[in-house]
Amino acid sequence: MMDRQTTHAAEEDPRNEQLLIHVNGQLVPKDEAVVSVYDSGFMLGDGMWEGMRLYDGEWAFFDAHMDRLFQSCKAVALNIGLSRDDIRALLDDTARANGMTGDAHCRLMITRGRKAKPFQHPSLSKWGPTIVAIVEHSVPASGLAKGIRLASVPQVRGLPHAQDPKFNSHSKLNCVIACLQAEAAGADEGLMLDPHGFVNTTNACNFFIVRDGEVWTSTGDYCMNGVTRANVIRICRANGIPVKEKNFSLYEAYGADEAFLTGTFGAQTRVASIDGKDIGDGTCPVTERIRALYKDLVARTVAEQKAARQ
Ligand SMILES: Cc1ncc(COP(=O)(O)O)c(C=O)c1O
Repeated sequence: MMDRQTTHAAEEDPRNEQLLIHVNGQLVPKDEAVVSVYDSGFMLGDGMWEGMRLYDGEWAFFDAHMDRLFQSCKAVALNIGLSRDDIRALLDDTARANGMTGDAHCRLMITRGRKAKPFQHPSLSKWGPTIVAIVEHSVPASGLAKGIRLASVPQVRGLPHAQDPKFNSHSKLNCVIACLQAEAAGADEGLMLDPHGFVNTTNACNFFIVRDGEVWTSTGDYCMNGVTRANVIRICRANGIPVKEKNFSLYEAYGADEAFLTGTFGAQTRVASIDGKDIGDGTCPVTERIRALYKDLVARTVAEQKAARQ
């Protein structure tokens, strides 16, 4: 049996045991980086987060990540209390304090903050927000090259009027349950369907298939509005690779020539199998081409961001 892996597996790096973590304006050693047990994020999952990657001193696609974060926080009346530039400065300071200019990944977390009482009402969060940034040395594990095994799971994506799956909220229980179901089925991650039974996304990444040279992904309803997903669609359109956002079923996913996942952490990760069925013949020329184009896009974007800041 293959070793279990996750799409967020990184190469071991002992420096990650000695990190300085940003907690509410302070840089704190990892062992001492804590938030209150009254924090709304801890108690209720009442917070939003962003995952970003550092390349050559720049947070790639920073504006797109901030658009998503600020929009999500606005929708739940969570006042970040900082500007985008303030956030960039705190992330830069944290990276600098840890001696990082690249191969680093951050998880920026903003919660409604510490509550006066251990109950749900948002007004009890009197000392918010709580702002934490964990920036780790991070190179995706080489084992990911052999591909991820997915299992379709009973847990479905929610309707937007329950808890919109576009919220990158601290509460990821829907996704965690999907991942547990996939694990019980002997797979690495869960492939989640939408409420109509169409293939939607995985518990942690967006999902694409390639059929007859065409790249397909879900309509975008019910899944995270991934920054990497949007970039892959943009890359395809700019380079003459046919791409469709459409409904498709497991039937079409099983029969795909290639399948891959997208996310900030791992960029594009090959899918080896779905429900024990191997995908394609093991080659993935379209995925490889998209991966190379994405690498170019990151390099170009990072150079432009850098130039704009000088
Ligand atoms: C459920 C889910 N899907 C997809 C993604 C990938 O999004 P992005 O490409 O913006 O990293 C994430 C990451 O936050 C996620 O939590």
